Amino acid sequence: MRLAGKYAAITGGAGGIGRAMAAGFIAEGASVCIADRTIEAATAAAEALGPNAHACALDVAKSASIAEFAAFTAQRGGLDILVNNAAIFDLAPIADITEASYDRVFAVNVKGLLFTLQAIANQMIAAGKRGRIVNMASQAGRRGEALVGVYCASKAAVISLTQSAGLDLIRHGIRVNGIAPGVVDTPMWAEVDALFARYENLPLGEKKRQVGLAVPYGRMGRPEDLVGAAIFLASDEAEYVVAQTLNVDGGNWMS
Ligand SMILES: NC(=O)c1ccc[n+]([C@@H]2O[C@H](COP(=O)([O-])OP(=O)(O)OC[C@H]3O[C@@H](n4cnc5c(N)ncnc54)[C@H](O)[C@@H]3O)[C@@H](O)[C@H]2O)c1
Repeated sequence: MRLAGKYAAITGGAGGIGRAMAAGFIAEGASVCIADRTIEAATAAAEALGPNAHACALDVAKSASIAEFAAFTAQRGGLDILVNNAAIFDLAPIADITEASYDRVFAVNVKGLLFTLQAIANQMIAAGKRGRIVNMASQAGRRGEALVGVYCASKAAVISLTQSAGLDLIRHGIRVNGIAPGVVDTPMWAEVDALFARYENLPLGEKKRQVGLAVPYGRMGRPEDLVGAAIFLASDEAEYVVAQTLNVDGGNWMS
């Protein structure tokens, strides 16, 4: 019960990794707000998780929606823990990247993450809470990748924002850290696989098979593989861990 009595929100909490984290947080004694783009998706996930989960509609790409999310969670006593997990993916060679794709990815993965973090950090400061914030980065943020320029850049920005916010907010007792997953079998990877299939002329499922084989651990990650790190960073056990992004990737990346 390392999160007993804590109130946590997970953006994109209806998705693969977010939902697994929500289940893990509840098992550690937290109550969890599943915040996702549609109330239907958030409600379905919250209902499956039981009475210690509830739903909230949140589109991190819209500032009015972030303000409503902050007001909603403030009314319920204010958040102790925020996981900035919502993100989207896109893929194209440099020659084919469109402005629309760039704007869409950065609006969610970078701007959305920053202003959700800001709104909840301000809520925590006003309530005098020593909150914990966990940002979902990616191994894609550790180095560029042919075809994945925009997403990689967005996740590098998440690692950088985690450092800046971590260094700034620690004076309020708010700890900001990040997690960089490797390749994780979630609905996002179905989309990633389909995009690689198109651009690398591969059969569907082949890219997924290849990246799984290349992981030193011997397989692709599962959403559950990310849960322990999130609980640790959100708990008192990580009290002296500040502004770090932890690789949880089966050995794919060292830094
Ligand atoms: N799956 C992987 O291999 C992998 C690898 C590295 C990092 N990550 C990161 O982990 C996190 C979770 O990824 P996942 O694989 O579970 O993805 P997913 O697609 O299964 O889930 C993402 C969730 O975010 C939600 N979302 C999207 N846009 C949103 C918005 N504007 N506002 C609110 N919610 C929004 C989606 O509805 C979905 O429920 C993401 O930050 C992702 O970049 C994933």
